[in-house]
Amino acid sequence: MVIGAAGMLGGEVVSQLLARGYDVVQTAWPDNNAGQILLDITDQAAVNELVAKVRPVAVYNCSAFTDVDGAESREDIAAQVNGTGVGTLAGACRENNSLLIHVSTDYVFNGASEKPYRCTDPVSPQTAYGRTKLIGEQKIQEIANNWIIVRTSWLYGSGGKNFVDTIVSLARQKENLKVVSDQLGCPTYAPDLARCLIDLAQKGGQGMYHFCNGPACSWFDFARKAVEISGGHCLIEPCTTDEFPRPAKRPAYSVLDCQATFEKLGWTARPWPETLLTHFSV
Ligand SMILES: NC(=O)c1ccc[n+]([C@@H]2O[C@H](COP(=O)([O-])OP(=O)(O)OC[C@H]3O[C@@H](n4cnc5c(N)ncnc54)[C@H](OP(=O)(O)O)[C@@H]3O)[C@@H](O)[C@H]2O)c1
Repeated sequence: MVIGAAGMLGGEVVSQLLARGYDVVQTAWPDNNAGQILLDITDQAAVNELVAKVRPVAVYNCSAFTDVDGAESREDIAAQVNGTGVGTLAGACRENNSLLIHVSTDYVFNGASEKPYRCTDPVSPQTAYGRTKLIGEQKIQEIANNWIIVRTSWLYGSGGKNFVDTIVSLARQKENLKVVSDQLGCPTYAPDLARCLIDLAQKGGQGMYHFCNGPACSWFDFARKAVEISGGHCLIEPCTTDEFPRPAKRPAYSVLDCQATFEKLGWTARPWPETLLTHFSV
């Protein structure tokens, strides 16, 4: 079962599960595509009823309130989806002996580190979105008995609002663009993350994992490469976070240590420039 199948990651997980020959029940909210069941994960009765009816071997939760800036003024709504709703799903999975595979974020950390964050490092979210995602992690750890949480960062792919497509589209309309160069992180290509989630489930993964495509770069580096590979001619210039204020404070350092995940998977994530080449060739 894939929850949030209409989202950027959810669509990838569905495609890859189908390609591997699995039967997939897809749910989406508030809009659904053909073949997707409408399911709001904040609707406890509906979640319990559907999971009990399907009794899935595995539930991939790709749904979330992902508007990082919007969450600052709507933290209660974000918490219902990213926190309470995830807790409901965890309970339904426990009742039906389903493995829960959930996706979390680098925003649970404070962004002040100087070395890659390990799964066991202390969490200290600095934004409303990060706080709500942390509640979701905690609910799963309290309630579920068979679970995988994968924290990721800077996610991009097809079929969803994301940094790469936004920058490339802006670059087509403008002659120059300023992009922040003082925030470091790792881009993550949604198809690679989907493969990681499914492989972890197949390989008997349990507990917390980190996954992203390396190496660490700035948003400026990432934007420049994306525009170059997409064939754009816009001049990309570096700027500081102070020049580009946002409602939610962005972490200065958001690099996740994925070594333990790669060992469990038996493969290592591709470098992000290679994933950009794939993105623009499909
Ligand atoms: N994007 C990133 O950079 C990033 C970074 C780190 C971690 N993550 C995590 O990665 C996961 C996948 O992210 P994504 O970028 O693929 O997100 P996405 O494209 O925004 O997909 C999330 C889906 O969940 C849906 N949704 C919202 N409220 C719901 C509800 N109450 N019940 C059921 N579904 C609901 C959304 O619908 P609407 O679109 O209509 O709201 C959307 O279809 C999320 O857990 C996210 O927190 C993302």
